Amino acid sequence: MANNLKINNKLYKPIILTYYCGFMKILLIGNGAREHCIAETLKKNKQSMLYSYLKSKNPGIISLSKDFEIGDYSDLNKIKSYAQKIKPDFAFIGPEEPLSNGVVDLLKEMKIDAIGPTKSLAKLETSKSFTRNLLRKYKINGNPEFGIFNKKNISEAKKFIEGLSQCVIKPDGLTGGKGVKVQGDHFRTKKEAFDYCNEVLQSHPAVVIEEKLEGEEFSLQCLTDGKTVAAMPPVQDHKRAFVGDKGSNTGGMGSYSCENHLLPFLEKKDVEEGLKITQKVANAVYKETGEFYRGIMYAGLIKTKNGIKLLEYNARLGDPEAMNVLPLMETDFVDICNTIINQQLHKIKIKFKNKATVCKYLVPKGYPEKSLKNEKMNVGKVPQNAKLYYASVEQKENGLYTTGSRAVACLGIADTLEKAEKIAEEATKSIKGKLFHRKDIGTKKLIGKRIRHMKIVLSE
Ligand code: GLY
Repeated sequence: MANNLKINNKLYKPIILTYYCGFMKILLIGNGAREHCIAETLKKNKQSMLYSYLKSKNPGIISLSKDFEIGDYSDLNKIKSYAQKIKPDFAFIGPEEPLSNGVVDLLKEMKIDAIGPTKSLAKLETSKSFTRNLLRKYKINGNPEFGIFNKKNISEAKKFIEGLSQCVIKPDGLTGGKGVKVQGDHFRTKKEAFDYCNEVLQSHPAVVIEEKLEGEEFSLQCLTDGKTVAAMPPVQDHKRAFVGDKGSNTGGMGSYSCENHLLPFLEKKDVEEGLKITQKVANAVYKETGEFYRGIMYAGLIKTKNGIKLLEYNARLGDPEAMNVLPLMETDFVDICNTIINQQLHKIKIKFKNKATVCKYLVPKGYPEKSLKNEKMNVGKVPQNAKLYYASVEQKENGLYTTGSRAVACLGIADTLEKAEKIAEEATKSIKGKLFHRKDIGTKKLIGKRIRHMKIVLSE
C-alpha cells in the first residue's frame, strides 16, 4: 500500500497520488459488458492506463486497454505472470468467478492492492449460509425465516418446509444466478421443494431453505473500504428472458434507474434501510473475520409488507446494473478506488448525475438454455445519447461473433425514464444478428405493473 507523501512539510494522504505520480496502471479482470463499462469509467481519469485480463476478445475493453491477456479465470498462474509483467498500481476484479478462485489473495501476496474481497470475504456472495448466519449472529435486520441443511440433517428439512407457507431453495455456492428455485415459479408442491433440496445436495455441501418473500426487488450497489459504506443509486433488474416476465431466469435482461435516485415503488427511507443493513454487515464481516472488506457489496433487496429484506449479497457490481450507475458517476472513479484501498472512503463525496437510465441486453436467440453460439453480428451507427457495451462476444479477424451468453447492452441516458427507454430501444436497432431483447424494460406499462404490485403487497 502507498505511503503518505510529504510536500512542503505538508502530509498528503495517498488519495492524491493519482496527481503526483504520473500514470496509474490498473489491471482489470473480466470481459463482460459490466467490465466494458468499468473500463470506460476508469479511463475517464486521464492518468489511468488500463491493462486487461479477459476470457475472450471483447472489442470494447480491448480498445480502451494499453495491453491485454486472454486466459481463464481459474488459471491463477497466468494471472500471476501477467500481473508480474505489468506491475499494476491496483487491480479491479469484475466478476465473481476470479474472486471465488482467490485472485485477490494471490494479488495480496504480490503486494498488489485490489478492488474486490479476498476469497474468504467473497463468501458473502459464494456462501448463502455464511451471509444468513452472519445477519442472524449480529442481529441485523433483513433475514427472512430460513434453515440450512446438509446430507446429515436433510430429513429435518421436510418439517421446516411444511412450516413455511411458500419457500425458496438456494444451493449453498455459486450458481451463476440460475440455481435458485422459487415455489410458484419453478416448482409447485412441498414435495417438489424437498426433492430439489436432495438434488442440490448431490453437488453442493448445503442447501438454504427460505420463506418466500412477496414484494418488489431492487439492487443497491455499495462501495466499501471495510469501514465506510457508500450506496450508488438503486436499480431494478429483469431476470426473466421474455416480455411480461415470462420464461427462464437469466443473468439479467436489462435494468433501469431513475433521475431522483429512487425507484417508482421506493421511498428514501427504503434505500436508507438497505444502506444501514449493508453498513452493519460490513462491520459484522470485520468482527467475524478480522479482515476489512474492500470493494463492492451489492445488496439484492426486496421491499415487502414487513420492510426491506435481504435476498442476497454479491461481491461485485451487478451486470447489467453497473451500466445504470457508473456512466452517471461525476466523482473520479480512480480516486474512489484509491480511497477504498487506503480506507479513506469517508473523505470523498461520491456524486451521480440526476439522470434516468434504461439498459436493454441483446442476447443470442435461444438464450439462456439453447443459445446460438458463434453467430456473426454487425454493429452499425449508435444513436446520439445511447451507449453500447460489449458483453460475451469474440472479435475475430472477419467480424464480431456471439459466444452463447449475453451479447451487447444498449444504454439510454436521459432526463426522464420515458426518454431513456426510447433511446435504449433505438440503440438495439443498430445491431443486426440472430439476437433478441426485452422491449418492455423501462416502459410505462411494465413500471406501472411494478407500482400496482407493490401497492397490493403493502395493502395485504
Ligand atoms: N443482475 C444480476 C447480477 O448481476 O447478479
